[in-house]
Amino acid sequence: MTQLRLRPLNPARDLDWMYSFLKNESPDGLRQWAGNTLRHPLTPAQLAAHAKRLNVKVPLRRAYIAVARSARQAAKENEIRLAYAELYNITERGSAFITRMVVHPDYRGQGIGPEMLGQILQQGFEKYRLHRIELNVYDFNTAGVRCYEKAGFRKEGLMRGTTFTGRDYWNAYRMAILEDEWRGRPRDPA
Ligand SMILES: CC(C)(COP(=O)(O)OP(=O)(O)OC[C@H]1O[C@@H](n2cnc3c(N)ncnc32)[C@H](O)[C@@H]1OP(=O)(O)O)[C@@H](O)C(=O)NCCC(=O)NCCS
Repeated sequence: MTQLRLRPLNPARDLDWMYSFLKNESPDGLRQWAGNTLRHPLTPAQLAAHAKRLNVKVPLRRAYIAVARSARQAAKENEIRLAYAELYNITERGSAFITRMVVHPDYRGQGIGPEMLGQILQQGFEKYRLHRIELNVYDFNTAGVRCYEKAGFRKEGLMRGTTFTGRDYWNAYRMAILEDEWRGRPRDPA
């Protein structure tokens, strides 16, 4: 059953909510979520600067908040926010990345991530007419890989040593889903 709906990020209202739980992340936890785009210790100013980077038209970037569906009729201030994710660098009839997806720690392991992805994929393939949606996930992030597989993404390969942590390098899987796969159509033979 659908437990959530998507709405656009509203920086004025949502950045404080994001900071409230992301500020508790360790350096590695923050890096697992955002790579090296945001630096530990996270600050509200970094989140605000990142939100400005999202607010461009070329390439188009979209950031979403998933809210509990039961809050649909509720006043904005009673809304229950569950998760955040971006559809990043959307190109006309082309591709885009899912980036910086995070489910609030209180709501993990309940299928929120896959359901949110399902709704973002719908936006990507129907509204933005994409052919391919891709993402990178560190190889040790088993919860992330599971979540993406449940949403229909497939591993395409392991990218070695993509991210320097200050001590060592992390590997990341490239995962992707094509429009045909999302629609359940048979793929063209290679
Ligand atoms: C990755 C993430 C978005 C998944 O979202 P989710 O809503 O918890 O996804 P699911 O409910 O499908 O759970 C996925 C897996 O998480 C693990 N899991 C289960 N309960 C969990 C819990 N309470 N806390 C953390 N992980 C849990 C399980 O391995 C589960 O897979 P399974 O259903 O096959 O057992 C979420 O764990 C998260 O925000 N992690 C921190 C940020 C991050 O790593 N983002 C991804 C960047 S690429």
